[in-house]
Amino acid sequence: MIGSTIVHLDSVDSTNNYAAKALLTKSLKEGTVFIAACQEAGRGQAGSVWESERGMNLTFSIVLYPRQIALSDQFAISMAVSLGVADFLAQFVGGVSIKWPNDIYVNDKKIAGILIETAISNGKFSQAIIGIGININQEVFYSDAPNPVSLKNLTGQEYDLTRMLDLLCEQLDKRYCSLLRREQLLIEKEYEQSLYRRKIWSNYGDHLIEFEGRITSVERDGKLVIETRDGLLRGFYFKEVVFL
Ligand code: BTN
Repeated sequence: MIGSTIVHLDSVDSTNNYAAKALLTKSLKEGTVFIAACQEAGRGQAGSVWESERGMNLTFSIVLYPRQIALSDQFAISMAVSLGVADFLAQFVGGVSIKWPNDIYVNDKKIAGILIETAISNGKFSQAIIGIGININQEVFYSDAPNPVSLKNLTGQEYDLTRMLDLLCEQLDKRYCSLLRREQLLIEKEYEQSLYRRKIWSNYGDHLIEFEGRITSVERDGKLVIETRDGLLRGFYFKEVVFL
C-alpha cells in the first residue's frame, strides 16, 4: 500500500536519488515513500531542475515493484500515476488536466511534475521510483520554469502537508491497484479524457515547423497523436513535439 511506510528526510539532493541508493543496500516494502523538506538538486524531466522552497511543497519518491507490468506497458505506470495526482488535486481545485506525457496542469499552469525511473532485470521491471513534486504552499517561483503555480496561488489557502501527503497516497494507491488489476483500458480512457488541450485546435512545433493541430489520442506506448488541419494524423514520442 502506497504510503504505509513514510520516511521523512530533512535535506537531500533528490528524493529519487535517495530512494535509488536506499534500494542498493536495503529491501524496502513496496509503497515506501521518501519525502524531503528540502531537495538541493531536485531533478525534473530531461535534465531540468525542479524548484521547491524548503517546507512549502510535496517533494517525494515512492518505491514500487511493478513486476506484473509488461515492459511494453511502461507508459501505463505513467498514466496511472498522473491520474492519481490529478484525482488528488481535483479535490481542491477545478481545471485540472494532464499535459502529455505527465505534467499536471491547472488551466494553463503547471502545478505538479512526475519523474519515473525504472530498473529492469530478467525482462521485468524490478523496481520503479516514482518521483513526484507538487506545488502546495509556495507563493513565488524563481526558476525559469515557464508557468509554475501552487495550490495556494490558486485558492489563497494554506495546506497541511502531512494531511495532503496522506490524501495523495490514497489516490495514488487506488490508481496503482487498478493498474495491477489490469484495468488498463479504463486507465487509458480516463487518461485520454483528462488530457490538456484534448480535441482543442492549438499550435505545436516539431523539430522543423510550427503547425496547428488537435490532440486526438495517446497510443498504448505513449505516442501522442495529433490531427493536423489538413487531416493528417501525426504521432510523437516524448520531446518530439512542443506545445506552443
Ligand atoms: C518534471 O516535471 O520535470 C518532473 C519533476 C519531478 C520532481 C520530483 S520532486 C521529487 C522527486 N525527486 C526529484 O529529484 N524529482 C522528483
